[in-house]
This record gives sequence, structure tokens and C-alpha cells, in this order.
Amino acid sequence: MPSSGASKPKVVVCRDLGPDVMPLLTKRDDIEVVLWTEDRVSDRQWLLENVKGAVGIVIVFSELVDAELLDAAGPNLKVVSTMSVGYEHIHVPELAKRNIRLGYTPDVLTDAVADISVMLALMAGRNANETMGIVREGLWPKFIWAPFALCGPQLSTSGVSASRTVGFLGFGRISHATLARLIPFGVTDCIYSSNPNSSTSYKKERDEKLLSQHQPQLKSLRAVDLDTLGRESDVLFILAPGGPKTRHLVNEDFLRKMKKHSVLVNAGRGTVVDSDALAKALREKWIWGAGIDVVEGEPNVGKDHPLLKEPRCNILPHIGSASFETRLAMATLAVDNCLAGITEQEMPAELDV
Ligand code: DGY
Repeated sequence: MPSSGASKPKVVVCRDLGPDVMPLLTKRDDIEVVLWTEDRVSDRQWLLENVKGAVGIVIVFSELVDAELLDAAGPNLKVVSTMSVGYEHIHVPELAKRNIRLGYTPDVLTDAVADISVMLALMAGRNANETMGIVREGLWPKFIWAPFALCGPQLSTSGVSASRTVGFLGFGRISHATLARLIPFGVTDCIYSSNPNSSTSYKKERDEKLLSQHQPQLKSLRAVDLDTLGRESDVLFILAPGGPKTRHLVNEDFLRKMKKHSVLVNAGRGTVVDSDALAKALREKWIWGAGIDVVEGEPNVGKDHPLLKEPRCNILPHIGSASFETRLAMATLAVDNCLAGITEQEMPAELDV
């Protein structure tokens, strides 16, 4: 990057990306790196002050990028690079208005999030939270084993049960990878509701490809409306990106339509599900159980949160992509995107804003 003389172009990094990735930035002598060193969400005031004059910012999904932040940064800002595939925390039209590029981290986390989606489905169906609670609280010695105690609906169908329909709210890369993992469990029918803006021909081509990839096991793959998705799914995976268009799509009305033995998994964004409605659905047994990695308003999910009171709610603290391998790949990609953005080159993963 050409040196402008006095001060070096500044890159603000909102989280320490570790010893393997930070040197990609700090070892360069053509940029100044300003780092938020604490392992928590960067302080907003710190960010507003330090972003002034920056050419690039590297963030994670807990930093809000809005007009206020972009105005504080000023006209030098060329790129926002988020270490996440989701971009609900970024006001994309504000970037577009200012011609600021956006880097994100798709693909590298697909497998990790698909893995955890299946894990959550298993945990929710087989009562992991409730049954582990028995052990954790020292109640196992008092627990009388009974033929039908603590049973739950089985995910795999082989031999013992009828077919299972899996549903997906949001049908992108992570949903496809989750579906692929479920085929060996005996899943034969898949329904989904996805981005209404994707073209019909794109969907048709994609679905034909998926069907042929999973032949002969997968017998049907259908795009359905939300109502059908709620009514027909035995296991529903929410892997939608979040944002105003998907906020509370899963609400009381939706949950009331679901099957009594159905399981809901949310590894997408917390805002898609109305937490109070989900707590009520679990309490009043409209559905069997839930496995969620994301909650609206996270990380402010304290002990008194309504979902924590539901034994059949298996909650993880947004760790879908938290494997060593994936986080390293995400951090590296976020830095590569940022460096490409500030040097005005092609980014490895840029979102059209
Ligand atoms: C993402 O990348 O959007 C995940 O939710 C965080 O890993």
C-alpha cells in the first residue's frame, strides 16, 4: 500500500484474533493496527473514538455498524470486515451509501454450524438438558429406571419408526450441509421456506441438484409456505440470516401449528424466534423440545430468561462456529478481506452491498 507520508493508514480490530492471525496485520509496516485487547464486545465509546480516520475495521457479530459509527469513521473508511457469515449487525444500506465494501466469512463455517445443528436436534429430541440435569443435581441414585421414562422422539428412522420430514427455514449453504448429514439418519422428505427473492429457476436447478446428490434416499424436496413448514416438519431447522424481514417469523401462531412431537432447532439468528412464544410452546407442550444456539437479545440471557425455565429447551451460547479449525479459518478470512479491501483488490469473500 503506498505510504502517504505522515501517518500510516489505520485499521481498527475489535477483537484479538490470536497468535496465528494477528501477525498478518501487526507484522505489516504499511498500516497502523489499533486493537481492542479485551475478550469482550468492544466498548462503543472506544470504538467511536478510535475509528476516526480508519481505512478498515475488523469486527465480529456483536459490534453494531450503523450510520453513527460510519460517520465517526469518516470518508477514509474503505472496508468493514466481519468475522461472521451473518450481517444482521451491519446496516448494509449505510455502507452502500458511502461506497464502503463489506467482507464476511461464508463457507468456512458451514460444516461447524451444520454439525452443531444436528447435535441440537439430537439433544432436543432426546432431552439432553433435562436428563443431564438429573445427573448434575445428584438425582441419578434416586431416579427409578422405567421402561418409558425420559423417552423422546428419535431422529433416525431406520428400523423402528416411520419417515421423518425435516423442515428448513432458510435454505442456504448451512441448511444443505445439515440436510446432507441427516440423510444417513434415514430422512426421506425435506421441505423448506427460503428467500422469496431468489428466482424460481435458480431454486429449481438447485433443488434438482440436491435431489440427485442424495438419491435414492431423499424422496421429496419441496419449497413450501410458512404455514406448511410449521405444520409438516418433524424437525425444523432455523438457519435464516436474521434482520427485519425474518424477525419473529416463528411466533405463537407458527408454533401452535407445529406437531406435538416436533423439535425446533435454531442455529441461525435469535431474532427469527419470539422467545416468549417459544417458552410458552414448550411449557404448554405444543412442541416436544428445542435446541437453540442463538437467542434474541443475546448475550443478555440471564438465569431468569423464560427459556431457561424450560427443561426441554437446550441452549448453547452461540457456539455454532466454535471449533478451533473454523474460528482460525474465519479470522484469517476476515483479515484477508480487510487487507484486500484497503488495498482495493478483489476480496476473497465480499458481500454485494
Ligand atoms: C456467524 O458467523 O454469523 C455466526 O453466527 C457466528 O459464528
